[in-house]
Amino acid sequence: MPSVSDLKPQLLLQEVGTRPTIDRLAQFVDQTVTLQGWVFNRRDSKHVIFLEVRDGTGLVQAVVARDVVGDAKFEAAQLPQETSLTVTGTVTRHPKKEGVYELQVSDFLVVQTPTEDFPISPKEHGVDFLMGQRHLWLRSRKQWAILRVRSRVIRAIHDFFASLGFVLMDSPILTPAACEGTTTLFETPYFDKGMAYLTQSGQLYGEASAMAFGKVYVCGPTFRAEKSATRRHLTEFWMVEPEVAYMDLEGDMQLAESFICYIVARVLEDCRTELEILERDITKLEKVRAPFPRISYSECVEQLNGPLGEPLEWGTDFGAPHETALTQDQEQPIIVHRFPQVFKAFYMEPDPTDPRLCLSMDVLAPEGYGEIIGGSERIADYDLLRHRILEHGLPEEAFEWYLDLRKFGGVPHAGFGMGIERCVTWLTGTHHIRQTIPFPRTIDRVYP
Ligand code: 4AD
Ligand code: MG
Repeated sequence: MPSVSDLKPQLLLQEVGTRPTIDRLAQFVDQTVTLQGWVFNRRDSKHVIFLEVRDGTGLVQAVVARDVVGDAKFEAAQLPQETSLTVTGTVTRHPKKEGVYELQVSDFLVVQTPTEDFPISPKEHGVDFLMGQRHLWLRSRKQWAILRVRSRVIRAIHDFFASLGFVLMDSPILTPAACEGTTTLFETPYFDKGMAYLTQSGQLYGEASAMAFGKVYVCGPTFRAEKSATRRHLTEFWMVEPEVAYMDLEGDMQLAESFICYIVARVLEDCRTELEILERDITKLEKVRAPFPRISYSECVEQLNGPLGEPLEWGTDFGAPHETALTQDQEQPIIVHRFPQVFKAFYMEPDPTDPRLCLSMDVLAPEGYGEIIGGSERIADYDLLRHRILEHGLPEEAFEWYLDLRKFGGVPHAGFGMGIERCVTWLTGTHHIRQTIPFPRTIDRVYP
């Protein structure tokens, strides 16, 4: 009888885990390995061809020498960019560069020769062109590096919350009403129920879950029909949203702070190669340390109208220039707290010391990157919450379940949402948010 370990998927897993790959060549020095990959670039001389081969885990220089492989194979090695191939050779240390390895090729086998010239050459292309080729652009070095950092950030998010005993809750994507204002809703007809809306935030469901599980987080795609084309806005982005019963604004700020520090530390630990490819100044990230400076909205307005020279009328929301002015000379993320109610969401708890304000906070990333987190204490009182829902012109029937949370054992609670792409934009030092998600959706793009 076959044992459990004879089962195919397990064998495959072992194979995937142990097969030589470019990121693990250090373990195979002086051994013969076969790599499965693609031609990234090529340099020819009379008797040696240097194939830059990528296999998804990294890049290696594969040296094809005429006197080793013979004339016929040597001629055949003049392979076009993005030819898929398996290549066999001996792993050697780079003669000059510490920690870099090469492959002295003994043989290779072409899997597929491209039927056309690869549209993305190492020369400069415009971003619009590259975005139209996003399915192929992902193979480029910088895109590879950014999206690997993204993957590491997402892993850090789950590790962080798991280590604190949070429970992951998945919130629905199709929802009956708005969470973050009615101007950015995507709607879709929903059978005989009228309109359904793509979720702008999982928070309201996070709140219901927090009353059942105490500490929860929601993590998934969220949608906003943002009409402006800025370098900070996507129409589809991923958000992670912790929500905690009995937590107040102070606790919320502390949670956000240690969360950010944890993510930065994991990326610094594990993404050196990626950050180097991106030419990210990591000394800036190494300075990120709790506690982050805290500054009230009103103090921000004073600074903006004073030394920062980016005037703002009290009671209006920051625009991108204000966030840039507030953060461009900062080394740490800053936490701005106690915004005016008027431009904030309906569910935010009023500040007991000044009813014009709410117990809200945003974390702004340094170096001019701006808002990456928004959060608050939530209104705990049934009557006030119902009043706010009506005041915001929201349909009461769609919020009955949400109001129920204040009928049955309502408690103070708080949470926040971090835009994953905003965070990755900052960590990778990327100019435009659209490069931090594999297939971006913006006001002018739903292809590829
Ligand atoms: O500040 P926001 O709108 O807050 C909420 O949605 C709350 N319900 C979160 C909560 O308390 N659970 O959005 C939170 C974060 C922003 O700080 C930003 O990082 C990101 O989501 N974000 C966007 N990212 C990319 N493109 C957009 N259009 C974004 N809108 C918000
Ligand atoms: Mg916000």
